[in-house]
Amino acid sequence: MKGLVLSGGKGSRLRPLTYTRAKQLMPIANKPVLFYGIEALAAAGIRDIGIVVGDTREEIRAAVGDGSQWDVSVTYIEQDAPLGLAHAVLISEAFLANKPFVMYLGDNLLKTGITPFVEEFIRTRPAAQILLTRVPDPQMFGVAELADGQVVRLVEKPKEPKSDLALVGVYMFGPEVLESVKRITPSSRNELEITDAIQDLIDRGYVVRPHLVDGWWKDTGKLDDMLEANRLILETFDRRIDGTVDADSRVEGNVVVEAGAEIVGSVIRGPAIIGAHAKIDHAYVGPFTSIMNDVEIRGSEIEHSIVLEGSVLSDLANRVIDSLIGRNVRIYRQPVKPSAYRFMLGDNSEVGIRW
Ligand code: DAU
Repeated sequence: MKGLVLSGGKGSRLRPLTYTRAKQLMPIANKPVLFYGIEALAAAGIRDIGIVVGDTREEIRAAVGDGSQWDVSVTYIEQDAPLGLAHAVLISEAFLANKPFVMYLGDNLLKTGITPFVEEFIRTRPAAQILLTRVPDPQMFGVAELADGQVVRLVEKPKEPKSDLALVGVYMFGPEVLESVKRITPSSRNELEITDAIQDLIDRGYVVRPHLVDGWWKDTGKLDDMLEANRLILETFDRRIDGTVDADSRVEGNVVVEAGAEIVGSVIRGPAIIGAHAKIDHAYVGPFTSIMNDVEIRGSEIEHSIVLEGSVLSDLANRVIDSLIGRNVRIYRQPVKPSAYRFMLGDNSEVGIRW
């Protein structure tokens, strides 16, 4: 089987962070979300992976390379414009070479991996196998209607959903889908929809198998969603301390401290991850926090948050919670009068002040 990872498109819902970074490279527990997909494919025994790329192709290539870090071979497939998930399949025809394949949307995350689903697909070999999960807001997703355990209808982002079963962004297809992506026409948002292609398979009498899953995440552009994904993954971590922890510090629970990180006079309470060469100095890092490489937390407290590379938090009077802090951000206390807030924030930033 082949793998097809979709990593084109635009990240408008995660601004301002996606002004400067592809959304598929947003880190969850210190690792780009795209890497979880590639790892899941590799773990399912898939070695030949095509990655569909768009405007952010250079950044994706720089991060993923030739795939050798996962022992897979990566082929890049250029998509000129984000014309839809089925369009991505259409332009990948030569790469797919009539083989069955797993299509993995590069901004999706499945806590459990995909190996059992791939095995089931190979064993039963329907024309398509889709993963579904119950969601509170089905109108934001592709929605499936089932009858007697079979998929009877799929609708992309329906205004009045007929069920709460959303399509998860991992699909398994036989080569039959190639004909379907050629038969369908663009939707009202001018995309070739994969839901329409799967509906076409059903209409042509092919079997489409549904499978219900838990532990799934997809970026819907809200801070809370990023923090939820971070929690989902940190909960799976075991304790590993490769950095240095001095005698005055306490590291409690499932905490990863990467090589070169330094914990001095601080408390770290897991689950949490401290990236390489980060420095936690007389500080508190609480549960569900991901601190990336080269971050410094000095004289401050933080929990249930994500801090990206190179940022510094120093001498803050209040604990930072529920936050997503970008790269090379500096938040510090200035002990001068008058007491005031002083900001320099990028476009579409968001600051919440609680007291
Ligand atoms: O995440 C699950 C949902 O993904 C499904 O429930 C929907 O049925 C499915 O259409 C899709 O919904 P979105 O509209 O949210 O997909 P999005 O535009 O976010 O694209 C998903 C990924 O595919 C993302 O990593 C960007 C990439 N992409 C997207 C398009 C439209 C491409 O590489 N090329 C494209 O043309």
